[in-house]
Formats: sequence, structure tokens, C-alpha cells
Amino acid sequence: MHEELSTLKNQALAGLAEATDAGALEAWRIKYLSRKGGALSEAMKVLGGLPREERPAYGQAANEVKIALEAAFEERQEALKAAALAAELGGGALDVTLPGRPPALGRLHITTQSLRQIYAIYAEMGFQVYDAPDVETDDYNFGWLNIPPYHPARDMWETFWVTQATAGATTEGSPLLVMRTHTSPGQIRVMRERCPEPIRVILPGKCYRYEQVTARSEHQFYQLEGLAVGRGIRLTDLIGTLQQFARRMYGARRRLRVRGSYFPFTEPSIEADMDCILCGGKGCGVCKHTGWLEVAGAGMVHPIVLRNGGYDPDVYSGFAFGMGVERPAMLKYMINDIRYFYGNDLRFLGQFG
Ligand code: PHE
Repeated sequence: MHEELSTLKNQALAGLAEATDAGALEAWRIKYLSRKGGALSEAMKVLGGLPREERPAYGQAANEVKIALEAAFEERQEALKAAALAAELGGGALDVTLPGRPPALGRLHITTQSLRQIYAIYAEMGFQVYDAPDVETDDYNFGWLNIPPYHPARDMWETFWVTQATAGATTEGSPLLVMRTHTSPGQIRVMRERCPEPIRVILPGKCYRYEQVTARSEHQFYQLEGLAVGRGIRLTDLIGTLQQFARRMYGARRRLRVRGSYFPFTEPSIEADMDCILCGGKGCGVCKHTGWLEVAGAGMVHPIVLRNGGYDPDVYSGFAFGMGVERPAMLKYMINDIRYFYGNDLRFLGQFG
């Protein structure tokens, strides 16, 4: 082979071995293989100046060098691509073999789960859900529920009063607006809206009390009110409803007991207990060794309250009850501190549902 050509070939191959990235490779290609000014094209130009008989051999040799260099170039290019890919995969920027990071899924709050369970049970008994406001007037929260301003029963509910910007927003020295202390004001709202239709509703919602926060009581918590109004509704209907609830919520063998109580808006008033779901009535820490757990405060709607709602107490009667919502969830999951519910700690909230 012609010496210049073999020198050129060796030089080119050595240069190719040193090209370690795409940029260097392209520079190499231009230097040796480019048609315009590439080293090989230049070598071809020599051809014309050679004696006629040497030309074919030279031409053939140059062509072989060209083919060899092109093949070497392609091989090198493939090798560099493979190396780049391997570096990317192994370089740590993206390790496709790692397990994926699952997106954090939201879930229903434990109180919402408890509420929905309770809704389902009362829905089967024909109760609709009715929404009433959290901020109430003094009249709805107290007055029309037969708790006038001077009534000692106001002591039963430590109240958050809402300060109002408007001047003169007081009657008899007390501000008009309160954060509802119970869901009972909704009773008046449903009655006034539905009168004289019969009523069978539950009213869920947050209640607020100006109280010391402890493991057993929060200043903000949920209640669920029940109200049935119609002709011929009796105390036994109330007891039967609560008994059904206890059995559907806590098991078919639950027993219900009823004690006389006092609420200004019901007459007679009762408190309903069921046998402890943990010890079945023998007495344990959960039922404070009484064997009973409170289910609801309740009673027959007071005639004055019926009248405030628009119903004639000589024609209509009704029952009402109020029950806790966090409490059933606490019993179900053995949660001993109500403060977890609204403490916004995902380690707690993530455990349910
Ligand atoms: N509102 C009462 C409370 O908060 C509960 C209750 C509701 C009692 C309806 C009787 C009838 O304690």
C-alpha cells in the first residue's frame, strides 16, 4: 500500500480512539472524511499527478482506506452512544430500578366516616339529613328552645358569643349571635320550614362550647340531632328509634336503658344508655365500671318548642334526640383522647379508612 495512505489511516485511527464524546467525533469526521477539505479527499487529489499505471492501485488503496475509516467511525459512534446511555443509567440521576414513590392519598376524616355510618343507619329508618348554620342567634340557640335569658339551664352550655360590628346588637344585655352550643337550634329551623308537614330528619354539625379542653371534651365537636314531628308520635317511638340505632351501630344484641333527665326543650326528657360494648355490662374501664355507655340525650318535643316551630301541640307531637359523633368512633377504635380528632396529626388520621 502507498505509504502516505497507510500513514493517514494509522493517524486517523489513532485520532478516532481519542475522540471520547460526540463533539470530538464530529470534529474527527470533518477532519478526515469530509468531502470538502477532508484528509482523504485531499489524498485523492494526488491521483491526477501520478503516472497512469500507478493510478488504479492508488485509487483502490485510497478507497479501501475510506471504507475502513467510515466503518471505524460508525463503530466508534455506536460505542460512544452505548457508553453515554450506560453512564446515564448508572450515573444516579435516574435509577429506574428503584421502587416508585406513591402519591400520598387523602382519606376521609374519622369523624366524616363516623357521620356517614350514622347517616346510613338513620336513612334506613326514613330520616333525611338537614343542614343548619353554625352561627346562630340567641333566639334559635336558646330562646325558642324554651331557654329564656334568665333561665338557669343556660348554665348547661358554656357559650362562645360572637362579637358584632354593628352597634346596638344586643337584647337584654346579651349579644345576639352565638356559636351554636348544640344542634338543637336546627329543630326550630326545620319546623318553621316544613310546618305543617310531618318531619323526620337528622341534623349533623359542629358545636362549640367555651370549656376546658381535656381528653374527654373538646371546645369544638360534632353532634347529631334527630327530630320527628307528626300526629301520634310517642315516647316509645323515640325509645325504639334509639334502640334500633344502638343495635345497627353496635350489634344486634345491644340492650338500651332509659333514665329520666331534664332538658328545657323536651318534656319528658330522658337519657338513653346501652350496655357497654366492651364488657357487656359487667363493668370495665371504658364504661367507668357502670356497665353502661350513654347513647343520647332525648325527649318529647316540649309544647312550647312545637309552638315556636309553628305546630299546634294539641294536634302534633314529636321526639328529639342529640348524640355525639366522635364518641362512637372512639369506642369503635378504642381512642382514649378526643383531642386527637382535631390535632391534625397525620400519624393519627392516616390510621382510619
Ligand atoms: N341539645 C342537647 C345537648 O346538647 C341534647 C338533646 C337534644 C336533648 C335533643 C334532648 C333533645 O345536651
